[in-house]
Amino acid sequence: MSRANWGSRLGFILAASGSAVGLGAIWKFPYVAGKNGGGVFLLAYLACVFTVGIALLLAEMVIGRAANRSATTAFRDLKGGLWPWAGRLSVLCIFIVMAYYSVVGGWVIAYIGKSITGEALGQDTKALGAAFTHFIADPASSLFYTALFLGVTVAVVLGGVQKGIERMSKVLMPALFLLMLVLIARSLTLPGALEGVRYFLTPDFSKLTSAMVVDALGLAFFSLSLGMGIIISYGSYVEKETNLAGATLWISILATLASVLAGFMVLPAVFAFGVDPAAGPGLTFITMPAIFAQMPFGQAWAIAFFLLLLFAALTSSVSIVEPIVSYFIDEFGWKRQSAAYITTVAVFIASIPAALSFGPMAKSKLFGRTAFDLMDYATSNIMMPAGGILVAVFAGWIIWPRIHSELLSNGGGHWIPAFRGICAIVAPIMIGVIWVHNL
Ligand code: ALA
Repeated sequence: MSRANWGSRLGFILAASGSAVGLGAIWKFPYVAGKNGGGVFLLAYLACVFTVGIALLLAEMVIGRAANRSATTAFRDLKGGLWPWAGRLSVLCIFIVMAYYSVVGGWVIAYIGKSITGEALGQDTKALGAAFTHFIADPASSLFYTALFLGVTVAVVLGGVQKGIERMSKVLMPALFLLMLVLIARSLTLPGALEGVRYFLTPDFSKLTSAMVVDALGLAFFSLSLGMGIIISYGSYVEKETNLAGATLWISILATLASVLAGFMVLPAVFAFGVDPAAGPGLTFITMPAIFAQMPFGQAWAIAFFLLLLFAALTSSVSIVEPIVSYFIDEFGWKRQSAAYITTVAVFIASIPAALSFGPMAKSKLFGRTAFDLMDYATSNIMMPAGGILVAVFAGWIIWPRIHSELLSNGGGHWIPAFRGICAIVAPIMIGVIWVHNL
């Protein structure tokens, strides 16, 4: 079977960065950093991204390109044995991720509507918080917007990899970064914002706990789209000539930059408005509308922000759904359209408990967590790092000669031994130690 290729190296970098930059950076990073003490979390997050994260990003790309297939088939074609189960684990992981990602994607769509009517804007963060809580608790609207986000995602997926994703990323990613810079300028000039900057940049090592490091590791995986087969799938569309090491560097820098910028956009305002930085998943949705209310043409900024956030979320959600669809096509020979529709229906069913977690199912908890929290925790903090260990061992030990020759065919480099060292030794040990310590 022939596979479509990205139009260019830039097209691939933009599409993979589009996968990375999404709700993870703009919705999740600020509230997880806010909850975990700010500066010390930022440090732990950056440490995870620029050691294990960057190496696994490259490893996944090389595996995908070498096999020219999505994860499960790639593991089988390159080695076989029990390895295809690593791919199946990743499909299960992204299936669960998509179920709760769609819920948050739905919130974004709803906030576009609320920005257009002006309902989303306000000076009073207590009222904004109450409105957000009220909105996410409503089962009918939660389910409706979740379904809408999923529907839009599948429409893009069926539009084809190259046409759909590449075109979107090329224009909208730079627009999103520019908009964030404007919003940071506003956030930083609010009275009292400096306190937030201090919180975000000054590490308070008394907040260094193993639970915090697990969150940082999980967010590094989530925000780089790692440990869930996404990058393997994207790598399978890359041409042999593309220098993957260079692409890796770009993608990790763009993804990290988006998270850090989101931190500078949200956290100073959180302090300026007296919002609790540990307020949880609503942080971006409560704080940003208050920033818009302080800007000339605030409503227009609000609409632009939530629209661009929706596109960022879509370039990610497309990359989450794509490997599930590819799995059914590559493994079972399903038609693309049937695979996409069946995936969508199944994800929607799985998303119901997540969508109801803030309303009717708020009290239904397992291991002390709601369905939404449990899906998030189990995927980001357990399944993705587990997938990461498998990729690291696979690339660093099991098929190292193949990985090595792929890297040499792109010109090689002095960093190759360090890369292998991280895959073969550092990543499995580091993830293992963080887990055991947390237990
Ligand atoms: N990397 C994607 C995001 O952060 C999943 O939204």
